Amino acid sequence: MPFIIAIDGPAASGKGTIARALAAHFGFHHLDTGLLYRAVGAKGGDPVAAARTLEKTDLSRPDLRSAEAGQAASRIAAIPEVRAALLAFQHRFAGQEPGAVLDGRDIGTVICPGAPVKLYVTASDQVRAQRRAAELGADPVLMLAELQERDRRDRERATAPLRPAEDAVVLDTSNLTITDAIARAVAVVDRAR
Ligand code: C5P
Repeated sequence: MPFIIAIDGPAASGKGTIARALAAHFGFHHLDTGLLYRAVGAKGGDPVAAARTLEKTDLSRPDLRSAEAGQAASRIAAIPEVRAALLAFQHRFAGQEPGAVLDGRDIGTVICPGAPVKLYVTASDQVRAQRRAAELGADPVLMLAELQERDRRDRERATAPLRPAEDAVVLDTSNLTITDAIARAVAVVDRAR
């Protein structure tokens, strides 16, 4: 049985960095599921059709990292048929030996509810806005508004809203260095293995 690490949390919480580090540490595959929604949002046209025909190459487009792509992603991510169309790909990915790390919004709650490790990574709004602004070379005040709008949409949608799974370990990275956050995440996984 492959080992699954499910990581969820709001935008710029540090979940992507932690997911990559865990995958490298344990030799697992890693999927940033936000890229699936970003690629669908960026395609334009009918988002359900885009989700059904998504290809691997769609995910490596550099423009998918922008704030605009994030907003477009969170709009189409509220459509149940879009989410359903992306389910099989995520399940196949999660089934790879020796294990997989998936990060997103609904991994522990919907995609892999049986995962032996669930992390909910969070940080204060201010810290997240500063991190994202530094990453994209953007204004932190604008970033704060952008993140808050996107988080609200992700939390309030009816299908697969952003929330910690009941059995998730919550990791608040507001006052942690990247090294410390990764060390804590590794310790959580070690305890479950
Ligand atoms: O993680 P990232 O910021 O790249 O995600 C972009 C958007 O995609 C999120 O704001 C959310 O609306 C959507 N998403 C989702 N479910 C996931 C991953 C991302 O709804 N598992």
